Amino acid sequence: MPSDSLCFEANHLSRAFGHGRRRRLAVNDATFTIREREIVSLVGQSGCGKTVLAKMLLRLEKPTSGQLLFRGRPIDAAADPREHWRQVQAVFQDPYAAFNQFFSIRSQLKAAFHLFPQRPSEREMEERVDQALLAVNIRPPDIEGKYPFELSGGQMQRMLLARIFILRPQVLIADEPTSMVDACSRAGILEYLMKLKEELQMTIVFVTHDIGLAYYVSDRIFILHEGQIVEQGTPDAVTQSPTSPVTRQLLDDIPSLHREWIGRAPRA
Ligand SMILES: Nc1ncnc2c1ncn2[C@@H]1O[C@H](COP(=O)(O)OP(=O)(O)OP(=O)(O)O)[C@@H](O)[C@H]1O
Ligand SMILES: [Mg+2]
Repeated sequence: MPSDSLCFEANHLSRAFGHGRRRRLAVNDATFTIREREIVSLVGQSGCGKTVLAKMLLRLEKPTSGQLLFRGRPIDAAADPREHWRQVQAVFQDPYAAFNQFFSIRSQLKAAFHLFPQRPSEREMEERVDQALLAVNIRPPDIEGKYPFELSGGQMQRMLLARIFILRPQVLIADEPTSMVDACSRAGILEYLMKLKEELQMTIVFVTHDIGLAYYVSDRIFILHEGQIVEQGTPDAVTQSPTSPVTRQLLDDIPSLHREWIGRAPRA
């Protein structure tokens, strides 16, 4: 897949909730493209529409109006949404919601293989689960026989990443994947995501409140405000010469830890 071809193309994309006077546009007239192998961050304050937009890219939420293409075809072109999910996978804010509390972690990691029409042998599945756990720095015996409620939020987020490692999607939608971990594990998870991107040549849509984090990981940043994309550009353009007051506010709100990243400009 050449890196200059388009992964997503959205034209005047909107998603409304509610009726009559209660009708609200969670995503309002968004027009953008995301190229193959690009990392794009969606940045904005709570409630600005990041998750709703991410869910439309995942085909979990239907646009109310506008057009959304995935690799040149309408996103719902295939009748079976699983066809989309084989290519596009997600890591969500709340890892507990993504796992069933009543099944062991290991059995659920193995269940990831159900998405594929052809499942590997039992032995190969077990091996690939072990590899995925090691890849996120979890020793397989440490989760043996354990259930989601027995792990911490940070460990569960690692389980979501392990699941991604098993599925090896071409596109990853990561919605605040580090919201439940401390600063140190956060750096680890981000590093791991970047490693995964290199290894799997993935396209990543990264959702965050934190423009400093976005600066660090992205090729381009979209700034959202009240459902609209108010600014989009390279991390340098968006942080050095922001055109929207919303962007300036977000820059003022960066945790001081991440401010250093922008000052030091560590990007290649
Ligand atoms: N299923 C729904 N029904 C009604 N309103 C919804 C629904 N999902 C989202 N919304 C509304 O759409 C708007 C955008 O929500 P969204 O979850 O995308 O915000 P967000 O940017 O992801 O916020 P956060 O940073 O807190 O996760 C909010 O006003 C929210 O209340
Ligand atoms: Mg959200």
